Amino acid sequence: MQAMVIDPGFTGPNKATPSVVTLTGLCKYFGTEVIYEDFNFDFKSGTFTSIFGPNGCGKSTLINMMAGLIPYDRGQILYDGRDVSQANIGYVFQNYREALFPWWKAYENIEYPLKIRGMSASQRRQRVNELIDQFDIKFDLNRYPYEFSGGQQQLISILRALAPNPEIVFLDEPFSALDYEMTLFIREKLQTIFSQNNIAMVLVSHDLEDAVFLAEQILMLSKRPTQVVDVVPFTLPYPRNDRTVLAPEFIEAKRRCLEIFQQEVRK
Ligand SMILES: Nc1ncnc2c1ncn2[C@@H]1O[C@H](COP(=O)(O)OP(=O)(O)OP(=O)(O)O)[C@@H](O)[C@H]1O
Ligand SMILES: [Mg+2]
Repeated sequence: MQAMVIDPGFTGPNKATPSVVTLTGLCKYFGTEVIYEDFNFDFKSGTFTSIFGPNGCGKSTLINMMAGLIPYDRGQILYDGRDVSQANIGYVFQNYREALFPWWKAYENIEYPLKIRGMSASQRRQRVNELIDQFDIKFDLNRYPYEFSGGQQQLISILRALAPNPEIVFLDEPFSALDYEMTLFIREKLQTIFSQNNIAMVLVSHDLEDAVFLAEQILMLSKRPTQVVDVVPFTLPYPRNDRTVLAPEFIEAKRRCLEIFQQEVRK
């Protein structure tokens, strides 16, 4: 059995690592409902963060604000000083069935973000071929989304998010519409992407096992008005595999997250 190496002094991503996105004094209301009031967090570049918290605490709202999909009321979200419109981000939606354009072939879906950035057809082809090689895609992308399995469609939407070489990728419940076999497949691919690229990943998952398994840190959120309760590190090296869930570090990180979560929902 391969030994799992962990640096006992490692308590999470290095403080000296530059930030990819910084949230300062963030406030978000839906009518009279306060979702965030003075929320602060710094996402480090090249770091895998999972977000976990009670139902309806605002996990999707948070990543949607960071991705510039919905507005916020006060505060700042800055990508190394830049507005989100100047940042290079990717977003993987929960429901791949609704996320892919059904009238376009998989290939056209993947190249879409490159097209809107004004890349030529030959540059786009080169980039898509790079992704095909990197992910060892064996299926023919010259087919329509409905012709693929659920896991393949979710993989296509992940490739689309990665096509423009984003500095950060947001994933909102990417496994929720997948069966277990496909979840394992996408889990593995996400690790490959993460290990091969200097990219920050932010994963929202209802499944604590998935959230811990993939992340270097788990951002634990409170009930509304939502604050950071804790940041739990989980620093086993990638790639993680079926033995990871048996490792004492994994069991301890999961236990710690569960304890925080239960304290929060009991409040
Ligand atoms: N467009 C909207 N208009 C009004 N209220 C909204 C809107 N979007 C979200 N909310 C409310 O804001 C709160 C946070 O929603 P959000 O979807 O971000 O939570 P979440 O943590 O992702 O929840 P879940 O665990 O169910 O995915 C919820 O109470 C939700 O009902
Ligand atoms: Mg949500």
